[in-house]
Amino acid sequence: MLGDTGKRIVVQEVAPRDGFQIEPAFIPTEAKVALINALGETGLPAIEATSFASPKAIPALRDAEEVMRGIARASGVTYAALVPNLRGAERALAAGVDEMNLVMSVSETHNLANLRMTREQSFVQLCEVVRACAGRAAVNVSLATSFGCPMEGAVPEAEVWRWVSRVLDAGVSNITLADTTGMAHPAQMARMVGAFRDRWPNARLTLHLHNTRGLGLANVLAALGAGADRFDASLGGLGGCPYAPGATGNVCTEDLVHMLEAMGYRTGVNLPRLVACARSLPTLVGHEVPGQVAKAGRITDLHPAPVWLAEVRANALAKG
Ligand code: COA
Ligand code: ZN
Repeated sequence: MLGDTGKRIVVQEVAPRDGFQIEPAFIPTEAKVALINALGETGLPAIEATSFASPKAIPALRDAEEVMRGIARASGVTYAALVPNLRGAERALAAGVDEMNLVMSVSETHNLANLRMTREQSFVQLCEVVRACAGRAAVNVSLATSFGCPMEGAVPEAEVWRWVSRVLDAGVSNITLADTTGMAHPAQMARMVGAFRDRWPNARLTLHLHNTRGLGLANVLAALGAGADRFDASLGGLGGCPYAPGATGNVCTEDLVHMLEAMGYRTGVNLPRLVACARSLPTLVGHEVPGQVAKAGRITDLHPAPVWLAEVRANALAKG
């Protein structure tokens, strides 16, 4: 049932990684650190702070070590980082990352474009990373293009389940299904989340959704209805994979938290603080951002009635 009062929904912030990786202007390290620190005080349970990708592939996040060194670790917050290969895992472990977000694509074409490896090669590395991280950091595997590939088109669901099975067999039970370029629709989302949960009820499922076609929150609702309880989201709705043609931002964190809280779910997030973070973004990134609640205010932030209303009321009443 939607609007399950009191149900806890985990919202994981990914703007410092998914958001900043695609920003054309380099965000200074101190500004990244300041934003992550502010986000750490909002009650968000997890923040993807950076990415240990090749600096040639993702120059915007070439300061991953400095960012991890610079941030204050808020208690109770998991600091995650994206890791594309073994080299990245070694760097992330040395930097003290709590949770490794290993990434590969279900679509061969996107995997080649993004990671310059076949899926098979990525999977071999992924298994090595899992072994390297054992006992040292938590591991999550993100399966990109799980709901469609911008170059291959529809991705067969059986192919998604084949990779989920292989990841689980490799000993990782934290899995993210990512809609890299917003190709999912709500019926597909409900069906796939339901199928995942029926088949692997003990796995931890996260949905990583992009709002490329305006279906982000609709897809969240469909996933919630099918029992999902963990979502990535990006402050201001920033985000996108530089190697996925047409990519745009994630589901917006403050819009998502606002919707969930209004419906009676619990996120643990202090929305006014989160909105204050979001309102700092246009100055930080140098352009408008897609998020709507930071612009419109919460549904409880009311506007005063216009002063001329008293006269309108008096005139209306005078007419009987
Ligand atoms: N961190 C730092 N440097 C790295 C690295 C890492 N994780 N992985 C590779 N490198 C360096 C190598 O040392 C080498 O450096 P050199 O040219 O100075 O010798 C160079 O990068 C090329 O290494 P190679 O192993 O040949 O990598 P590649 O060019 O085939 O790229 C990836 C493969 C996976 C490293 C790269 O495609 C990548 O980082 N992709 C991430 C994409 C991403 O984050 N997308 C958005 C999120 S979905
Ligand atoms: Zn993404």
